Amino acid sequence: MTTETQNLEQIPGVGPNTAEKLVQAGYLNFEIIATATPAELYESVEIGEATARKVINWCRQTSGLSTESEGGDADEAMKQRNLEIEDIPGVGPTTADKLRESGFLTIESIATATSANLAEAAEIGESTAKKMIKWCREQADIGGFRTGTEVFEQRLKVKKLTTLVPDLDELLGGGFESQAITELYGEFGSGKSQIVHQMVVNVQLPEELGGLGGSAIYVDTENTFRPERIEQMVRGLEIEDANVEDFLANIHVARAQTSDHQMLLIENAHELAQELKAKGKPLKLVIVDSLTGLFRSEYAGRGTLAERQQKLNRHMHDIFKLCDEYNAIGLVTNQVMSNPAVFFGDPTKPIGGNIVGHTATFRIYLRKSKGGKRIMRLVDSPNLPEGEATFMVEEGGIRSC
Ligand SMILES: Nc1ncnc2c1ncn2[C@@H]1O[C@H](COP(=O)(O)OP(=O)(O)O)[C@@H](O)[C@H]1O
Ligand SMILES: [Mg+2]
Repeated sequence: MTTETQNLEQIPGVGPNTAEKLVQAGYLNFEIIATATPAELYESVEIGEATARKVINWCRQTSGLSTESEGGDADEAMKQRNLEIEDIPGVGPTTADKLRESGFLTIESIATATSANLAEAAEIGESTAKKMIKWCREQADIGGFRTGTEVFEQRLKVKKLTTLVPDLDELLGGGFESQAITELYGEFGSGKSQIVHQMVVNVQLPEELGGLGGSAIYVDTENTFRPERIEQMVRGLEIEDANVEDFLANIHVARAQTSDHQMLLIENAHELAQELKAKGKPLKLVIVDSLTGLFRSEYAGRGTLAERQQKLNRHMHDIFKLCDEYNAIGLVTNQVMSNPAVFFGDPTKPIGGNIVGHTATFRIYLRKSKGGKRIMRLVDSPNLPEGEATFMVEEGGIRSC
């Protein structure tokens, strides 16, 4: 064991006073602290026993003396263990409550927070917040550069949710992707809401039937969610023991009244997502129908455009974070108006323009065609060719032509 003195303020939850007391009591470095018992530590430096335990654990990990696992790789064991926010060094029950109230429910959510946001949420100093974020990033493996191999491994987790319409699935490279947002834009009546209704049904199917065995969140801003449509679509699956009640129970609908309310619903969805995970019906689909409707009506004047775009940008990032964290699929709709007053350029430009376009991973344009046919056009995708496919909306759901 070394007797070299280390800067103990590096330990999350240890400020200058505690650090000084530790040194005075002979706890000169991480290695010495790592071998202490919580009782010894809290007696000599007057910190709570829970804090003492966290300080010891941190020092054990840092100095490679972790006793968390027998024989195995300690780091791996830490990652596999489900860490709670109480496990963060320096976080007691009060801070944990404050964090939860502000929507920080997981290690990952703190790892991706800004120190200013976290400091405000937990009513802690910014330097403490920084230490917490650093610790969470290490645990959650979030932060710096990742190798191509790691990115590839993350991509392997991507799930595809099938539309069950073969041509559409082919266009989409197998279905709508998780860890991504797909924007469906098109005129009124082009089939945006029909598709998202179909997907909240499909996502609940077991994987062998093209679903993900999960549940869905449906943020409804135009009051167009219809349980009757879900019922028709469930019957349309023609699965003998499909129970409509069960399908409805796994769709969590929230009617947004204002754009701020809409944003809040997504910010607060982490709590519900945790519950769904615990219930064995993990969140696999996040719908916002329509993404832009309320924003458009509330921010009507020219002067408010910048603010609207800024809020939309934040909202899109919140949706993305939710989908990334739970490996869920994000589907947002965006209405466009064919505007005869526009003589130049595309008269059917989606609302939100660049902001939505840059944040959405996939963009899909829907339009009506002859004989009740509808055309789905893949406009923008990082890994798929542009293209079109057709479908119909029938009583039983979306179908091949
Ligand atoms: N039960 C049904 N059977 C057949 N077609 C339907 C049914 N319900 C809705 N539709 C079709 O879907 C269209 C509405 O599409 P929708 O997805 O709500 O449009 P939007 O793109 O505005 O969200 C209707 O005009 C109708 O053609
Ligand atoms: Mg609609």
